[in-house]
Amino acid sequence: MIVAEGRRLRSQAWFGGKGRDSFIHRSWMKNHGEPADSFDGRPVIGICNTFSELTPCNAHFRELAEKVKRGVLQAGGYPVEFPVMSLGETNLRPTAMLFRNLASMDVEESIRGNPIDGVVLLTGCDKTTPALLMGAASCDLPAIIVSGGPMLSGRFHGRTLGSGTDVWRLSEEVRAGTLAEADFLDAEAANSRSAGHCNTMGTASSMASLVEALGMTLPANAAIPAADARRSTLAQMSGRRIVEMVAEDLKPSDILTRQAFENAIQVIGAIGGSTNCVLHLLAIAGRVGVDMTLDDWDRLGRDIPCIVDLMPSGRFLMEDFYYAGGVPAVMAELGQRLHGGAITVTGRTVTENIAGAVCWNREVIRPIDEPLVANAGIAVLRGNLAPSGAVIKPSAATPDLLKHRGPAVVFESIEDFHARVDDPDLPVTADSVMVLKNCGPRGYPGMAEVGNMPIPQKLLRQGVRDMVRLSDARMSGTAYGAVVLHIAPEAAVGGPLALVETGDIIALDVEARSLTLEVSDAELAARRERWTPPKPTMKGGYQSLYVGHVLQADQGADLDFLVGCRGADVPRESH
Ligand code: FES
Repeated sequence: MIVAEGRRLRSQAWFGGKGRDSFIHRSWMKNHGEPADSFDGRPVIGICNTFSELTPCNAHFRELAEKVKRGVLQAGGYPVEFPVMSLGETNLRPTAMLFRNLASMDVEESIRGNPIDGVVLLTGCDKTTPALLMGAASCDLPAIIVSGGPMLSGRFHGRTLGSGTDVWRLSEEVRAGTLAEADFLDAEAANSRSAGHCNTMGTASSMASLVEALGMTLPANAAIPAADARRSTLAQMSGRRIVEMVAEDLKPSDILTRQAFENAIQVIGAIGGSTNCVLHLLAIAGRVGVDMTLDDWDRLGRDIPCIVDLMPSGRFLMEDFYYAGGVPAVMAELGQRLHGGAITVTGRTVTENIAGAVCWNREVIRPIDEPLVANAGIAVLRGNLAPSGAVIKPSAATPDLLKHRGPAVVFESIEDFHARVDDPDLPVTADSVMVLKNCGPRGYPGMAEVGNMPIPQKLLRQGVRDMVRLSDARMSGTAYGAVVLHIAPEAAVGGPLALVETGDIIALDVEARSLTLEVSDAELAARRERWTPPKPTMKGGYQSLYVGHVLQADQGADLDFLVGCRGADVPRESH
């Protein structure tokens, strides 16, 4: 049993007295059978659970939480599980991203307001990882992340199926008339054949890798499949470790340093990670007061090679990645490029954690001098069309399109896009640049994953499978293509994107990091005079709060009043 020595734990402000208030705190906890010694000064460990059957990627989290509890108990802690808002990427409308910040508030206030000394964050589906880390970081009690793990690889008609990536691919085949609809529908069950989150290097896997690279998880957390017994072992070990972290007072602010964020950006480049990581990392950094910017992404990612051959950039899936060595093997390959001295939740440095990491499959994780794609880090574009920046993932784009000049075909909204994209009279060719407006943080609202606009049917039938597309939206981490995203300022706040008209020439040059609208300043000024902002889709409620306070994409799309760390102090009693 561990009873903190020489330091009164935070939970003792609830449980440690002999008066009326402590009676109340202990007595009601005893209604689920807690013995008196649960309150004797041992660390109280919150297990922050995003279980929900509406978040299928996290639907196995009840069992995962039980494994964490075993570890906490083994180490002498008192585990208390609590639910927080769960964000399911596939079901939530208008987009799970609208609720990332709301869930982070839930997490922050649930931790701060309760008798908790340290917390285990159970994360899985895309937004659950940043939401929980943002909330915990703003509170800054000892915290460790346990990811739910990816699904096993899908198999269908003799081929591998990757979550998301093959949905986009197969649906395009149906639209092109090269795949029967019945076969497409048959693929559904094969696509998702076990517990876990998307098995491609989509946003969930990228974020699991990002938080491992940040040092917020035990090594190997990101890639162990959800169905593998070693995932349960890791959960149990994390339960043990958080008890020690409380004793050591090892907090997120000790781990989430600039060096840690720089490591994470490089790892995301090396794994071909999701563009969504840009937003989430900036938002997490904002919660701990580390001034990371889009320029850090470009500077650190510019010469990072993609060495992991996973969909959507490559061929393999997370299960293969785990067997090949996972994130520790990638970090070992990056070697001296990383800040090896950064401290992690293990209490050891990055260098110590990855000592002895081995790559077991050089097809899946390549040597750094034989990359899948050279210079593959997420590129940050600027120009008169994106004064505050935009991003593109070069490793997921057709190389020939990374330098392109063509006429715009403009869609004013996602509804406009759906209504016209397959119109045979749409003035679009393979050289066109498809432009989608009003899908940013305020415009959608919530910055939906609609940036990878489907290719117009008439082009699909001509064999076109990629073209330049740009918007203020996001793109699923499982998607691919020459897709420019996160244009800031967004159209709905009057960014230059709002002024683009069909036929305007747009020049993209990823090597030069430029995105240019070839329209004169005088003409743009005249258009601005005529521009009116779109009407809000909903009045009142959380959406109004969000639209009124959300920051632009280049600042991580957090709510302005949530930026920063507010600590864990709550000086007043509840009664
Ligand atoms: Fe949940 Fe992809 S839908 S991780």
